[in-house]
Amino acid sequence: MSTNVSLTKEHPIEKSAKEFTYTHPKLGVTCRFINGDSFEFLRNCPPGSYDVVFTDIPYNVLIGYKGAEFDEDPFDVEELVKLAAKALKHNGIFITFCASTQLERLETILAQYFDGGVRDGVWIKTNPDPKRIGLTNAKENIVIAWRKGSTLHVRANHWNAVISPICSGNEPLKEFDPVEGKMVKVHGTQKPIEMLVRWINRLVSEEAHVLDLCAGTGAIGRACYHSGRHYTGIELNRHFFEQSVEAFGDKKYMELCRKRAKKAEMKHGDIMLKAIRRILINNKDISEKAATDEGWEEAQGLFKKLSGYKFLMHSGKTDIANLWALIAMALVFGIIAILMLKP
Ligand SMILES: C[S@@+](CC[C@H](N)C(=O)[O-])C[C@H]1O[C@@H](n2cnc3c(N)ncnc32)[C@H](O)[C@@H]1O
Repeated sequence: MSTNVSLTKEHPIEKSAKEFTYTHPKLGVTCRFINGDSFEFLRNCPPGSYDVVFTDIPYNVLIGYKGAEFDEDPFDVEELVKLAAKALKHNGIFITFCASTQLERLETILAQYFDGGVRDGVWIKTNPDPKRIGLTNAKENIVIAWRKGSTLHVRANHWNAVISPICSGNEPLKEFDPVEGKMVKVHGTQKPIEMLVRWINRLVSEEAHVLDLCAGTGAIGRACYHSGRHYTGIELNRHFFEQSVEAFGDKKYMELCRKRAKKAEMKHGDIMLKAIRRILINNKDISEKAATDEGWEEAQGLFKKLSGYKFLMHSGKTDIANLWALIAMALVFGIIAILMLKP
């Protein structure tokens, strides 16, 4: 059953509904959530239906792999990749988040089905969960596999890292836990919209239809919706499916997601950020600020003040204009660094 409605907290999801579709009123893209099993979905999917698989596989699979055989996990990643490769167009792309322990095996599997290349990247968290003992977990892995002639939306030298905060404030979906007697997160691994949009803008072409095989709370769906990509997401767990659908009916929540997606829309932001970080390496004060996303704004302000140059990054002007901005910035900060280093 497919339903296209606007849900609210007063009109929750119908008990029997297995599928919901939302259409963005301005961008016109569709966002479809399905409650079901991805393997079953893929077996029934006509070949060549999707441009990109962008997903987030469960982190406890493949861990038992000891070099020659699979552990007996019901979630068979190799089968998923094989089926997904068929569901993708001839120039399709497969992207997934994964745990470090899954990386090597996953890349070996992907290389069998994607002849263009396999590359891993990282999401560096600016505010990892604090740990009372030991190290924090300040990075997460992402793997990108593509076929020859793929539509990979990557500019030359585009960075395979995103620096962005974890899901915080009102963004993680929450619910009341009667045992704990307080509000708790609905899902342990909900991904933040801002980080997702940064990857989407970098890797996924604007016309693409994205397939998410492990939708969870639907974060990739909301990121696609706000960045203008068609999306279909499958989630096995009924509760997560319901939560992701209801989040769409919550105007305030969707506005929060829209704002976070907007924040990620710096066209050349990451290239510029990388260059500025290099330039500022000798200026501890400014470089420390620029190393965080919050400090980035401040570093831009500082640059404007120092150079009087109109910053073009958000203005949608041409690459050439941004290149001049970059050169001007390099000169200004280079001179500052030399002056500061002079005895
Ligand atoms: C790492 S979580 C995804 C979290 C998601 N990215 C988010 O931001 O909320 C993986 C999800 O895959 C779902 N899953 C596991 N096996 C599945 C299957 N066979 N079909 C569809 N979903 C499945 C789990 O229920 C879990 O919610």
